Amino acid sequence: MAEQVATNITWHDGNVTREERHGNLKQKGCTLWMTGLSASGKSTVAVALEQVLIQRGHCAYRLDGDNVRMGLNKNLGFSAEDRAENIRRIGEVAKLFADAGVVTLTSFISPYAADRDAARALHDEAGIPFIEVYVECPLEEAENRDPKGLYKKARAGEIKGFTGIDDPYEAPENAELVLNTAQLSVAESVQKTLDLLEERGLLSPE
Ligand code: ADX
Repeated sequence: MAEQVATNITWHDGNVTREERHGNLKQKGCTLWMTGLSASGKSTVAVALEQVLIQRGHCAYRLDGDNVRMGLNKNLGFSAEDRAENIRRIGEVAKLFADAGVVTLTSFISPYAADRDAARALHDEAGIPFIEVYVECPLEEAENRDPKGLYKKARAGEIKGFTGIDDPYEAPENAELVLNTAQLSVAESVQKTLDLLEERGLLSPE
């Protein structure tokens, strides 16, 4: 957990409530946290889901692991400490987006349960819905897909500390939704996620 370094700072409240902001957007903000192995399908499902949400008139935004690592998190690698910091920052950013009223889709491996739990706790404390989606895919299948050729490199010892090969992936035990992408089509995964968002009333006004 990152420590508070700055001192002499005071929280400054605004004059509008979350409900007022969300009312303008006619939806509630939330974070849909996708976790899973590299090549499990997180980004693919997030891209398709974002498209459907936008086409239906919702305000949605995708925070993608590889993309965010080219900007905000460009100074982080793949040590346990850097992965924790990666996820801490994304937890904070997703919380801000969701607070603003955006249906926020994150697709990060987020391999460590403690880091995902910390992101959830941040949302819980702020009363913002956090939905963990386990994008489940057997390692064998992810390795067969290997769209970026990274598993091959990891097996050849050219990448050290690759998730699922020589770095752990701690599967969620209490995810709100599990999408097995070895069995479901992308469209089915999108539909299941939409169903859950609708069931929880997150796509309608307060
Ligand atoms: S996380 O572990 O910190 O959550 P993140 O989702 O941001 O990872 O980035 C994972 C992506 O980085 C993978 O999809 C892959 O393209 C790339 N990558 C490069 N090196 C590694 C590694 N050692 N382990 C996992 N992914 C890696």
